[in-house]
Amino acid sequence: MNVLNKKTLEDIDVKARRVLVRCDFNVPIENGVITSDKRIAASLPTIQYLLGQGARVILCSHLGRPAGGVFEEEFSLKPVAARLSELLGIEVKMAGDVVGESAQALAASLGEGGALLLENVRFEKGETKNDPALSKKFADLAEVFINDAFGSAHRAHSSTAGVAEFLPSASGYLMQKEIAFLGGALENPKRPLTAILGGAKVSDKIGVIDHLLDLVDTLIVGGGMAYTFFAAQGKSVGTSLCETDKFDLALSMLEKAQAKGVKFLLPVDNVVGRAFAPDTEFTTLGVDEPHDGWMGLDIGPATRALFADAIAGSGTVIWNGPMGVSEWANFALGTIAVATAVAESGAVSIIGGGDSAAAVKKLGFESKMSHVSTGGGASLEFLEGRELPGVACLSEK
Ligand code: 3PG
Repeated sequence: MNVLNKKTLEDIDVKARRVLVRCDFNVPIENGVITSDKRIAASLPTIQYLLGQGARVILCSHLGRPAGGVFEEEFSLKPVAARLSELLGIEVKMAGDVVGESAQALAASLGEGGALLLENVRFEKGETKNDPALSKKFADLAEVFINDAFGSAHRAHSSTAGVAEFLPSASGYLMQKEIAFLGGALENPKRPLTAILGGAKVSDKIGVIDHLLDLVDTLIVGGGMAYTFFAAQGKSVGTSLCETDKFDLALSMLEKAQAKGVKFLLPVDNVVGRAFAPDTEFTTLGVDEPHDGWMGLDIGPATRALFADAIAGSGTVIWNGPMGVSEWANFALGTIAVATAVAESGAVSIIGGGDSAAAVKKLGFESKMSHVSTGGGASLEFLEGRELPGVACLSEK
């Protein structure tokens, strides 16, 4: 998937026009305070360009997963409007609703170079159903639609896709940047290309593994999902997380890797605990040792060295998913080792959103990575080779 055949915001005349911009402002908020504004900051280039063109900018986004149909203060975008106002140095007006009287009145009264934020689009029940009636209401607010919400591009919702049926549309700068990095890494990578996949479940990543095996030179698998591979191979995994119905798929992935000549690296040792708890008793076991009474919670020291070595020789690295329960200090060393190896590799480094992005941020390695994606689910679907509805809907050049 690429955006090359799609219009970009520079292909459309936006001067003095009302422009609806879908952003992904789904940011963490605790007690009304935004704890990471990465996604807001990432959307600034598009907004600033539009303001600079004298456009009347109508911003919209979802936040969390409200029930829909009613306003819920907890999911209000008001804190985002305040943060945007600070970052842009202008007042970003906050609508009292999504497409109702308040939104319509504010949109109509916006001056050139003015900006407005609609309320959480998921307060409208039709949003996640991609209801054409709601899409039309979004479209009625503006004359042009720009999708810059890469983090939501895998959702076919009214504000991410449906609205594009009613307006001329184009991608924003963040959307273009995300797809340029992710697409470049898959389509024209500096080799060797190494993908590192972690996280709990094989079932979440099976499509990604399958697609990546056609593209990569080395595939590294760590995290909870490694135990499904071990159990499928008849190894002892104790009480480790394991998807017994995925054994055949796991084995077929190993066979595919062999047939394709892809180096498939699994852990050689595990840090195991007695229970799923941060302060549980723990030790290290080789993968061929009996694991009875133990649960795998991180990769072991020999694996950290093995993975770091493979990463060091790479031209491009794509990483998605932690190597263990990285939020607990005793089981974070695997994820830290991988983050360090990627940061020091000199390779083109692409970090999928979600937990791996959080780990990279916590370690202060963000600036050492070529690209840290703002999309968790979206980057995963992209790596699966799936079409993203939020891009597919945009006007062709
Ligand atoms: C995300 O945080 O991954 C995106 O904002 C999408 O959110 P959603 O999974 O609730 O659609």
